[in-house]
Amino acid sequence: MKTLITNIGELTTNVVSGDDLCGTLRDAAVLIEGGQIAWVGQASYAPSANNIVDADGRAVIPGFVDSHSHIVFGGDRAAEFEARMAGEKYAAGGIRSTVAATRGASEDELRARMRGFIDEMLAQGTTTVEIKSGYGLNIDTEERLVRLAAEVTPEVTFLGAHVVPAEYADRADEYVDLVVGPMLDACAAHSKWIDVFCESGAFTVAQSRRVLEAGIASGLMPRVHASQLRPGDGVQLAIDVGAASIDHGTYLTDADVAALAASDTVLTLLPGVEFSTRQPYPNARKLIDAGVTVALACDTNPGSSFTSSMPFCIAVAVRDMGMTPGEAVWAATAGGAQALRRTDIGAIAPRMRADLVVLDAPTRVHLAYRPGVPLVDSVWKDGVRVIGGQS
Ligand code: NIG
Ligand code: FE
Repeated sequence: MKTLITNIGELTTNVVSGDDLCGTLRDAAVLIEGGQIAWVGQASYAPSANNIVDADGRAVIPGFVDSHSHIVFGGDRAAEFEARMAGEKYAAGGIRSTVAATRGASEDELRARMRGFIDEMLAQGTTTVEIKSGYGLNIDTEERLVRLAAEVTPEVTFLGAHVVPAEYADRADEYVDLVVGPMLDACAAHSKWIDVFCESGAFTVAQSRRVLEAGIASGLMPRVHASQLRPGDGVQLAIDVGAASIDHGTYLTDADVAALAASDTVLTLLPGVEFSTRQPYPNARKLIDAGVTVALACDTNPGSSFTSSMPFCIAVAVRDMGMTPGEAVWAATAGGAQALRRTDIGAIAPRMRADLVVLDAPTRVHLAYRPGVPLVDSVWKDGVRVIGGQS
């Protein structure tokens, strides 16, 4: 079966062309075959196909790659958000209340909730999602979380070192022993990534290094939560261990920025966190101009960022972080792919997975220009139209 999406008014390929990061083509067409992109070019030169889809001048972009989420959890923290909007400060300790609710939820409840978030994300154009554990913090529950996550994505991250659970209060090193020992043994087979929250109030640099090195020794690849609440040494640690991404980076030092620019570690910015914790937005303009590779992700979780909307994050990144619409869309697609070290997604080019979004808009700029407006016309995942009209 060959499907041709034609009459595309603006196609974002992410195949850099001159100074156009987005590799924009106008009056374009895309041929899909066997779940992959088979051809991309001017509509008037398109090869023949048995299934023709008329995009009617709409814009088409690669499916969003949301490289940071925590969507397997129980409970809700709306009251904490409400208190924060009335002046309370965000603190990582709130994670423990979600841990209690997650331990108390059944496997079926956790699965149904997680699948609901996946559906919600797909409807907003997200075709790849990374999912972290981290709300179990004991062997059985962490194993359950990574196993459930692996049902819906290959991008599973073991985050047993999210915070020190209450039963290990004042015994953080003993908790790290558990994480790098039997908990990692139980979780590694379901996981691709190892992560740690390297921040005061969570884990020290020395503890974080132990966690990352143990994960690497078990065949996992590193990524790191750091510099969310204050500057720290987590960014340097992430670069030292060859992390694919350091996530948050709300409080970076000049030395962090220079080190990131000289590394192949992606900086994943999470605008939903600053939005819902009332922290200052990082200056993405300055970071990009310094040569840092920036990705955007939602960080969907019940505490610091309960949005699953990549268009929302793009709008905030453009409005408040100094990114151009093209940079923000690139960061939410190709940037996310780079943060996951994936070379088969994040662009519309031959041999890439056929994951793409038809926007109900003439240009990708509308993602920031029309904030809060649902602009997804249809979504294609692995060459199949999963949202929108019949394929
Ligand atoms: O990525 N930084 C640590 N973890 C989450 C927050 C989790 C929570 O507050 O429940 C994050 O923001
Ligand atoms: Fe996170």
